[in-house]
Amino acid sequence: MSASDVLRVAEIFRDAFNDVYRSRGFGPVVTDDAVGAAIAGTYRDLDPGGCVVVTVDGEIAGSGFLHPRGKTGGAGPITVSPAFQGIGAGRALMDEIAARSDAAGITSLRLIQDAFNEVAYALYAAAGFVGREVLLRASFRSRRLARAGSDVRRAHRGDLARIRAIENDLLGIDRPQDHQLLLRLGELFLAPDGMLVRVVRGNVTVLGPLVAGSLHGTLALIAAGTTDLPPHSDVRLMVPARCDDLVRELLVDHGLEIHSLCTYMVRGAWRDARGYYVPTLFPESG
Ligand SMILES: CC(C)(COP(=O)(O)OP(=O)(O)OC[C@H]1O[C@@H](n2cnc3c(N)ncnc32)[C@H](O)[C@@H]1OP(=O)(O)O)[C@@H](O)C(=O)NCCC(=O)NCCS
Repeated sequence: MSASDVLRVAEIFRDAFNDVYRSRGFGPVVTDDAVGAAIAGTYRDLDPGGCVVVTVDGEIAGSGFLHPRGKTGGAGPITVSPAFQGIGAGRALMDEIAARSDAAGITSLRLIQDAFNEVAYALYAAAGFVGREVLLRASFRSRRLARAGSDVRRAHRGDLARIRAIENDLLGIDRPQDHQLLLRLGELFLAPDGMLVRVVRGNVTVLGPLVAGSLHGTLALIAAGTTDLPPHSDVRLMVPARCDDLVRELLVDHGLEIHSLCTYMVRGAWRDARGYYVPTLFPESG
């Protein structure tokens, strides 16, 4: 993918996601044209060897991204223009990403896909990915709490080594470059057994990645990361279904609204996840 491809990549990103979401009865999911270009631009800096396009008769038909992080890696987003879907462009992208992943020595490649998208599931399963977890794409409204997360504090540059160690320990993912990026784009919080990133854009706050060793730590991080927002802000996150105690707490205490389900798929090595993990679609490296 070259710099001059980014505009077309962004248009396809917008059209492909809006098309599949509309066809399943959801509203358009990419409403800001700048989003696709911002994602592609950031990934071209972060993972220069992992950004690829597929062409049909010389025309860009789609794009894909690989995010190598040592032995683990992430893949996505993968998008093919609706005009070119169903003729093998997605397969060509996944073959290339799998080949680059293998060449980079990645033994455990992960991605997140919308569970309603059976075409994407089939494509990834054919490329060797296995559905390992169900994630709830969900949101709740923020509220001010009388007392929130007394053992949680803001993290700063000097905490990055600790944050790296927490992810390494609980997830087996080593990604210091993503923590640097997230510190520039958002805010980091640290608990005794975990960490949280939040990114606030207007009235929408995205939580994640969140990694914690206990339910208590997870709830304390969520409380600390939301109590200072304007009341009723839209707080979005992906909750692992296996963390049934967290799902119940969020449903009962925060009025969690579940919008759809996603699948966490892994190609290669997988050990059951430890602790509480709220992954993100940006950066899509784990
Ligand atoms: C998902 C997406 C990238 C697929 O791209 P594509 O170019 O249409 O995919 P391809 O034509 O290469 O391959 C689709 C494969 O799935 C298979 N497939 C499709 N529907 C299927 C089904 N219901 N069951 C089993 N297999 C199915 C096809 O037969 C084909 O397999 P083949 O390679 O053996 O022929 C594209 O549809 C897209 O951009 N969707 C919107 C954005 C999106 O959701 N991206 C994924 C984000 S996680």
